[in-house]
Amino acid sequence: MSPKSILVLEKIVKQFGQFRALDGVSLELSAGEILGLVGPNGSGKTTCINVIAGLYRPDEGNLYFQGSKITRHSLTHSAHMGINRTFQVPKPFKSLTVRENLVIADHYAKRPHPPLDELLEFVGLSSLADREAGSLNSSQQKLLDLARALATGPNLLLIDELAAGLNPSELDKVAEKVQYLAKSGIAILLVEHLLGFINSLTKRVIVMNAGREIFEGDLETAAKNPEVNAVYLGG
Ligand SMILES: Nc1ncnc2c1ncn2[C@@H]1O[C@H](COP(=O)(O)OP(=O)(O)OP(=O)(O)O)[C@@H](O)[C@H]1O
Ligand SMILES: [Mg+2]
Repeated sequence: MSPKSILVLEKIVKQFGQFRALDGVSLELSAGEILGLVGPNGSGKTTCINVIAGLYRPDEGNLYFQGSKITRHSLTHSAHMGINRTFQVPKPFKSLTVRENLVIADHYAKRPHPPLDELLEFVGLSSLADREAGSLNSSQQKLLDLARALATGPNLLLIDELAAGLNPSELDKVAEKVQYLAKSGIAILLVEHLLGFINSLTKRVIVMNAGREIFEGDLETAAKNPEVNAVYLGG
């Protein structure tokens, strides 16, 4: 375990019945680093985020955050410690306004974080602050979900497919925001299908298939890897 690592996964297994959604996943992530996590549908990316965030308990293996073992932590405890995530399909409180959604996140926050208006500005939703969250389109809901996670002051941010559905200029803006967060010292695990987006942000990517890591390195090297091509890029 590197002394720099903020997050360490050691041979994590997560089963649903007899099915191993995660089959011995190990990874390390440092403060300010962006690690891309890619792989075909169903390979275990979201499950990995769910385990780190404390939504699921692993069946085997260990999880460390800032040097402490957190294998059996709860969702609330992990948020209080500084772990938060965005959802592949965000579920804001639809009948509340954008700002009210952040006020609720703030209510649960135990860590210092920027003022809510600054977070709204950061994700580009200031002009929609008084709109009902349910009236936002899906990419705006994703940005609201990012602001909600940031309202708990995370130092580990798990991002589950933020880029889906964005046009090229929106993609550039979101990439800048992710880069900014990493530069501010937040460790970021970035799950994404848009490989160009990942490539613009990090050269360190893990490719998963069937609950296992099959490759770690940069995407250009991944593209030359026969197994990665067979199960993911080739398809
Ligand atoms: N709560 C659950 N109960 C049963 N099976 C589950 C559960 N959550 C995930 N799975 C299964 O675990 C496997 C991994 O799912 P996961 O959502 O982690 O994949 P993913 O890599 O995020 O896929 P995608 O790219 O489609 O989002 C899939 O076969 C999925 O059906
Ligand atoms: Mg997923």
